[in-house]
Amino acid sequence: MSPTVVVTRRAHFNAAHRLFNPAWSDAENARVFGPCANPNAHGHNYNLDVSVAGGVDPGTGFVLDIKVLKDLIEEHVLRRLDHRNLNLDVPEFAATNPTAENIVVQCWRWLAPAIPAGKLVRIVLWETDRNLVEYTGG
Ligand code: NI
Repeated sequence: MSPTVVVTRRAHFNAAHRLFNPAWSDAENARVFGPCANPNAHGHNYNLDVSVAGGVDPGTGFVLDIKVLKDLIEEHVLRRLDHRNLNLDVPEFAATNPTAENIVVQCWRWLAPAIPAGKLVRIVLWETDRNLVEYTGG
């Protein structure tokens, strides 16, 4: 039986966002989101770890050519998010709070259709060195 290997590409992007719920008062937003609710936004240096898994192709020795994975992340995710204000520049976050949780799920929705079926297994979004979220498609 061919061994299953997980391959991960780490991508990086910078983006600004503001966390708030427009249905709430300013005081409620400040209570829940603290300085993340400041009206003029703030930035993060995000890392995005995209993992694919599968058998090792006997011809190439690859699960998926990592250069191909790199290009897919650039085309489907970085092009949309890098150097953007997520609330203002990314239609998917016009009415969805751009928390790390919501960003990682959206990254999956953009990437999954582009990656060979069944190979995408995990996306981890690092908002800081200490705060990360993980999505496995559930
Ligand atoms: Ni933030």
